Amino acid sequence: MNIKSVVFDAYGTLFDVNSAAEKCKDKIGDRWEGFADFWRTTQLEYTWLRSLMKKHKDFWSVTEDSLDKSIKVFNIDIAMKNELLNLYKTLSPYPEVKQVLSNLRKKNYKLSILSNGTPALLKELVKSNDLENIFDDLFSIEEVGVYKPDSKVYDMPIKKYQIKKEEVAFLSANTWDVSGGGNYGYNSIWVNRNKAIFDNLDYKPKNEVSNLTQLLDII
Ligand code: LAC
Repeated sequence: MNIKSVVFDAYGTLFDVNSAAEKCKDKIGDRWEGFADFWRTTQLEYTWLRSLMKKHKDFWSVTEDSLDKSIKVFNIDIAMKNELLNLYKTLSPYPEVKQVLSNLRKKNYKLSILSNGTPALLKELVKSNDLENIFDDLFSIEEVGVYKPDSKVYDMPIKKYQIKKEEVAFLSANTWDVSGGGNYGYNSIWVNRNKAIFDNLDYKPKNEVSNLTQLLDII
């Protein structure tokens, strides 16, 4: 691989999207994981549907809209809404993230996040987790006004760094995002933390890692 830039998905890849509900598991009870999965799935469905309907709304609004529905479906106390939303702004990173990023920083790669998140959300996530001086860029889909997996999104690092698509190592834990980036032309690497099954969407990643530490052996 002749990699010039390492591009990370944010939600689910660097930051644990379940960590907001997990921090409230005493109040939500045993269903917290099902609730977290439903909220995440609904949130993603809304991004895809809004892109198809050409009715864009930013990721923070979509996160709130999907939370409203999830709270009703799981019959959770509406008083928890603000607590969950505030926790979503400062999601925890996976354990190895800081170390891997600081090792990568010492090498010559352009490092960035490429995410559905708004610029303000991404800035806060990075700041609250002490990762401020790591990334060259935080690319937000707000710049192109359409969600992943539209190719306009994956174009952003290519245009900014003037590099070839295959010179990007793109890491995502979201299988559909790995397929999106791979079909676009990136070297997509699947972060498969939970021994999941890959999608059938015309792309199979050549590389799969169970956590980000293994990335350093691949690129
Ligand atoms: C993101 C979502 C897809 O960060 O996880 O773009």
